[in-house]
Amino acid sequence: MSSIAVIGGTGFEQMTDFAVESESATLTPWGRASHPALRGRIGGHTLWYLPRHGRPHHLPPHRINYRANLWLLREQGVQQVIAINAVGGLRAELQPGQLLAPSQIIDYTWGREHSYYDGEETGLEHVDFSFPYSAKLRSKLLLAAAACGEDCIDGGVYAATQGPRLESAAEVTRLHRDGGDVVGMTGMPEAGLARELGLNYASLCLVVNPGAGLAEQPITLDAMREVLETSASRVSAVITRLLAAAERG
Ligand code: HPA
Repeated sequence: MSSIAVIGGTGFEQMTDFAVESESATLTPWGRASHPALRGRIGGHTLWYLPRHGRPHHLPPHRINYRANLWLLREQGVQQVIAINAVGGLRAELQPGQLLAPSQIIDYTWGREHSYYDGEETGLEHVDFSFPYSAKLRSKLLLAAAACGEDCIDGGVYAATQGPRLESAAEVTRLHRDGGDVVGMTGMPEAGLARELGLNYASLCLVVNPGAGLAEQPITLDAMREVLETSASRVSAVITRLLAAAERG
């Protein structure tokens, strides 16, 4: 059984070339996941796949049951999770279509169920989160991207905002000043929960727009969608390479 899963974000409700073979239930001790976990094949390799916003896309970032999603994947035997995240670029060189594997996170979200240590029955552990993403999985991801001829930036800070609205220009200035490189709405609490469950977790970010106020034109969903549509097959190719490499050991 494959132990690798992809959590697909906005624009990745379907994964290019992924053929579903079976699906899990959705109910977990933490409530219902966004969707059943789908087990299937891509390029001859086995993969688990979970659309983060449901299918069709209906769950806003602050209503996603991140705890149930990760729990469900772990229940299927998943040990490694690649999160696909559509993001805004906070630096001029991070233009739409750019791939980036972040190395750090700043969490600006609030009011989300963000821990499994949530009451007397669950116990309490303060997990180390100094380095939120798995170094090993990140390097596999970067090697797979390079093998696909993709210029995927190695490292950067993911600023996780609450949404669902986009930021003001002043907020983008602040995020950049804080050290952020990309901004998205779903990076947290997902990464923290993955760490609490002991999963190896990495993110592949796709820049779909310049951050608010950084471009002449306003940010439109149509423009974001266009980037997502033209980039979906690139992301699938990177994941397929990663699975091939993981199979070879
Ligand atoms: N901000 C927050 N989340 C996003 C953005 C953005 O500009 N683009 C895609 N997800």
